[in-house]
Amino acid sequence: MKVLGIETSCDETAVCLIEAEGDFGPSFRWRTLGNALISQAALHAEFGGVFPNLAKREHAKNLVPLLKEALKSEPVSEAKGTPIVSDLSEILQREPDLLSQLLPFLEQHGKPDIDAIAVTHGPGLEPALWVGINFAKALSLAWNVPIVAVNHMEGHIILSLMEHPDKLEYVGTSGHLKRFEFPLLSLLISGGHTELVLSKQFQSYELVGQTRDDAAGEAFDKVARLLALDYPGGPEISRLAAESRRQGLPLHTPELPRPMLHDDTLDFSFSGLKTAVRRLVEAGKMSDEGRMGIAREFEDAVTDVLVEKTLRAAEVYGVNTVVVGGGVSANTYIRMRLKDALEKENSLTRLLVSPPELATDNALMIALAGYFHAREKDFSDATNLSASGNLRL
Ligand code: KG4
Ligand code: ZN
Repeated sequence: MKVLGIETSCDETAVCLIEAEGDFGPSFRWRTLGNALISQAALHAEFGGVFPNLAKREHAKNLVPLLKEALKSEPVSEAKGTPIVSDLSEILQREPDLLSQLLPFLEQHGKPDIDAIAVTHGPGLEPALWVGINFAKALSLAWNVPIVAVNHMEGHIILSLMEHPDKLEYVGTSGHLKRFEFPLLSLLISGGHTELVLSKQFQSYELVGQTRDDAAGEAFDKVARLLALDYPGGPEISRLAAESRRQGLPLHTPELPRPMLHDDTLDFSFSGLKTAVRRLVEAGKMSDEGRMGIAREFEDAVTDVLVEKTLRAAEVYGVNTVVVGGGVSANTYIRMRLKDALEKENSLTRLLVSPPELATDNALMIALAGYFHAREKDFSDATNLSASGNLRL
């Protein structure tokens, strides 16, 4: 089965085509036939965070070129997409730029041999989600292919379960599932989420812990801003922290709090950390070493809490497979600390994580999650499909 994945929930526009076969289990196989992504991070940097209307405009501009790229090596049938111009115009009435690129594309390009279109319908920024959804609806109509609505967070989890070559830059790279057993505990850490999710079986998700205020990635981004670092803040803070550790510099900073470390819930809270950093920054002029020290202490504080709560949740629920997903899981220090802690505490516990370049948003994760729904014919009714900014797992 061939599935086209579309991701536009935040500031990455991405399209990916996979071919996959088999049920969820050892016989499952997939191959990437095309993969294309444009990150808008540099454009949003000037606003210090994602600016929804800019994201929406950029998605509309990028989707058709990315689709062309993702379908580049695909044989197409003689039959062209049959754009029913009035219907497509209605679907894309809020995306005139996208419509003006899509119509000529459909007229020139033959229909690809695909079985389903998987698109993120939440959670995320609604104006951004809508562009991907409307694009999927237009393609579905023109090519007569069903749509699968995918939860972005399920995409992050499923991608971390996959074994595959680190690089996806070449076509034909293939993968399969890592070996593990349910129950599974997922730590989801991204710009919008910090959650511990228990899965007793495939596609079942029970929220067992969550942030009460800022998400981990949001905290990284806000603290980076306080330290006058670029957006996205995670990689910048991580770079400074690593440099401070490498040089063995003294911290130059008072210890930051470890919020909710010892309370008896599996919840998190990160906004106090940001406030503590703000106080330090406002207290006086800061040297480069001072900023590196804060970055390192901040990363340590976030990591201490993530590790402690994940270990505790794994113990409470008797889980020996822990999945980490979401953009913050690109952080090498957090990965290393989690792996050390889990495997030291219990040598039977395994940590499943995707390669760092696939930890942040992409469309492969959407295509893979979409495949399993498509296999069960869990399709969406295009007329009722809508963006759901706060969609839960
Ligand atoms: O999953 P993602 O790409 O988008 C959302 O779904 O939110 O996550 C983006 C978040 C941003 O907050 C970014 O700062 C953070 O992931 N991030 C990192 C790192 N790389 C990205 N945080 C810490 N360390 C990193 N290396
Ligand atoms: Zn994400």
